[in-house]
Amino acid sequence: MKRVLLIIGGGVAAYKCLDLIRRLAERGIGVRCIMTKAAQEFITPLAVGAISNERVATDLFDLEGEREIGHIRLAREADLVVVAPATADLLARMAQGHANDLATAVLLATRVPVLAAPAMNPAMWSHKATQRNVRQLEGDGVHFIGPNAGEMAEKGEAGVGRMAEVAEIVSRIEGLLAGDSDSGFGFLNVSNVRTVRPVLAGRHVLVTSGPTHEPIDPVRYIANRSSGKQGHAIAAAARRLGARVTLISGPVQIADPEGVEVRHVETAREMLEAVEAALPADIAVFAAAVADWRVAAPGRGKIKKAAGAAPPSLELVENPDILGTIAKRGAKRPALVIGFAAETQTVVENAKAKRKAKAIDWIVANDVSEGGGVFGGDRNRVHFVTAEGVEDWPDMSKAEVADALLKRAGAYLAQNRASV
Ligand code: C5P
Repeated sequence: MKRVLLIIGGGVAAYKCLDLIRRLAERGIGVRCIMTKAAQEFITPLAVGAISNERVATDLFDLEGEREIGHIRLAREADLVVVAPATADLLARMAQGHANDLATAVLLATRVPVLAAPAMNPAMWSHKATQRNVRQLEGDGVHFIGPNAGEMAEKGEAGVGRMAEVAEIVSRIEGLLAGDSDSGFGFLNVSNVRTVRPVLAGRHVLVTSGPTHEPIDPVRYIANRSSGKQGHAIAAAARRLGARVTLISGPVQIADPEGVEVRHVETAREMLEAVEAALPADIAVFAAAVADWRVAAPGRGKIKKAAGAAPPSLELVENPDILGTIAKRGAKRPALVIGFAAETQTVVENAKAKRKAKAIDWIVANDVSEGGGVFGGDRNRVHFVTAEGVEDWPDMSKAEVADALLKRAGAYLAQNRASV
């Protein structure tokens, strides 16, 4: 039987641990729990003990407990240590290597992988100190799940800080226990040094970005206001998370992301060709603002303005739908197809309809009405639309949106075991 040592931290989300223990037990996974002092302000050791069917450890200097099962054994007898909710304070103490209570002493003594599920107020999560601690812990080999975006326990507060849902944590735990390096969350135990395999390691991520330019003649074209910032941020985030990345970019004024293979194209038809050539991919993110129409017969030479003559009229024809083509293809369809929907009205309703019509797995919808500052700006407020429903993500930088999206994508692939 696989064993998880669950360290319950002191946050409102602690109550979710009761459900977490149940779900793990249903899967035949043994759960032993440690509760911090603060955790006991939220739920009682009695409830945790009853559900886990094990004695709950709470005290480093509990003689009775030490005799039965010492903290070193607690640390060693598990296949995985899970910290949930991982509060800002607990993460700080973990990052520093403290050992002044049972939870931190065990975390320092353990040699098995550690998974942390942070939960805290969004301001605490985005604080530089917390982010520094998380980076430190990631570097030390600690795995993270969440936090997710959404409503907080504090009335009227929303942002990134909610603990990952129990189902997400369970599936991540199963992936880690399976130790399947292809799950994207595997690890190597080399003489007690853990090398973390990033979430998208071994995956190929294809991203389209920027506008397209549709020629009217050799000097003029039809374009749109897309800057490419969101698409490029997605390519960069995918790279950071360990993927091999192909970015198909329309004409933009921003630099190519580092470590990414970039194909520069101008028109929608060139973009489709480049996308086809880059397949197969595990994930395809269509963030480009592809022109819906092109000029049917662009002028071979510059169209001249003749005195007294009527202005030329442009006949337009429809461009290929790149996303639609890729999402509906049988062979070589990426396991996860993600679209963007830039709308100015009834954003979510349109996105839901589009998701179904185009056979897209996920749609990231945003309002690009004038004044919103999305086009060309550095921030974005999006609605994340899947078959399961709609999540309203808080206002985030485009880099944060990219990171959140791709971490979700990595978890989705790990859960679905799909790979090209
Ligand atoms: O333009 P629309 O809102 O329909 O775009 C929805 C999604 O479809 C976006 O992800 C966009 O990149 C993609 N798209 C495409 N090819 C087109 C039109 C849109 O890939 N010709």
